[in-house]
Amino acid sequence: MPTVYLDHAATTPLDERVLEAMLPYLKENYGNANSLHNLGQKAKVVVEEARQKVAELIGAESNEIIFTSGGTESDNAVIKGVLAVSGDKKEVVTSELEHHAVLHTVELAKMQGIKPVFAKPDKNGLITPEAVADAITENTALVTLMHVNNEIGTINPIAEIAEVCKEKGVQLHSDTVQSLGKLPIDVKELGLNFLSGSAHKIYGPKGTGIMYVKNGSRWIPWMQGGSQERRRRGGTLNVPGIVGFAKALELAVDEMDDHKKHFEKLRTQLLEKLEQTLDFNYQINGSKNGVPHILNLSFSDNEGNFIDGEMLLLNLDIEGICVSNGSACTSGAVEPSHVLSGLGMEDGLANSSIRVSFGKQNTEEDVHYFVEKLDAVLKRMFTVA
Ligand SMILES: Cc1ncc(COP(=O)(O)O)c(C=O)c1O
Repeated sequence: MPTVYLDHAATTPLDERVLEAMLPYLKENYGNANSLHNLGQKAKVVVEEARQKVAELIGAESNEIIFTSGGTESDNAVIKGVLAVSGDKKEVVTSELEHHAVLHTVELAKMQGIKPVFAKPDKNGLITPEAVADAITENTALVTLMHVNNEIGTINPIAEIAEVCKEKGVQLHSDTVQSLGKLPIDVKELGLNFLSGSAHKIYGPKGTGIMYVKNGSRWIPWMQGGSQERRRRGGTLNVPGIVGFAKALELAVDEMDDHKKHFEKLRTQLLEKLEQTLDFNYQINGSKNGVPHILNLSFSDNEGNFIDGEMLLLNLDIEGICVSNGSACTSGAVEPSHVLSGLGMEDGLANSSIRVSFGKQNTEEDVHYFVEKLDAVLKRMFTVA
């Protein structure tokens, strides 16, 4: 068990109340929701109740919610399903700061002759409505832009982007994996055709997600199989996961304001403690007005030497602290995070970053422990280097 877990943008622990709601469907009520017998019909009823609840919580109709295996599947299903029926329209507008579930899907679509068009972020990592307007052409099949960035916490102005898309007659998808349950989401107010969401970022089970598909959207199902989800996503329904998703979202929405206040307090405490304690330079990457629970930080000494973010992460791990960094090890070489590179950051600075993401159980003591250990680890690392 870590002493201090500060990696909630990667995943969250299961809330006890979610587990309680799921348990009957893992144990005695194990029926297949497609079976006609009593056990199957019981499962079907709870799935439909969960669908209704999720729909209400995001301002959708219940027949617009499709349960999936998570954010990655939902992103794939939306993009592939739109491109399959986009005819002569062969361009997808997105940004270089998207999650790989979107970026790699768009990349693969190049094999079908699809052209990705990247809307440019501003210096804080925001995609402005103007940048989207510039990127849309008469060949645009879809605009896909995330609501909250998972590495730097920036919040894209989705409702304003939707206005642009509406004016140009282009469908809009938003990956809301990092914002669902953290920010108020009403699909009508946001002007979305499609949305992706995931349970494990909001104290729900892993491997469970949703896709919102507005009625009347130009889209076909990507996952073929049985008649589940009104033939829009084949596969035996994950009944406990679906029940867990609805419960996790309900709790997250109910407790959203309290969590936000809690995260703002922790963020302030962290920044104050960094100012008081740290003998090194740090900078916050991305907008300072993003979601309060995600903070991306880079570190350097007084001579301008950057720390190696991956080594920093591993050293903090030894102290019982879990954070993450954006860089990826590709064929033996450490590549900087595509998000930080997409912001125009040079490799040294980008590679020196770590992401701290708070959760509801974190305390002021956690913040203090983290900063004290961080300072000690940085001292050790800079001395050795
Ligand atoms: C923005 C974003 N999109 C998609 C995903 C993938 O979601 P899942 O893990 O449910 O497949 C993540 C997970 O980190 C994410 O942060």
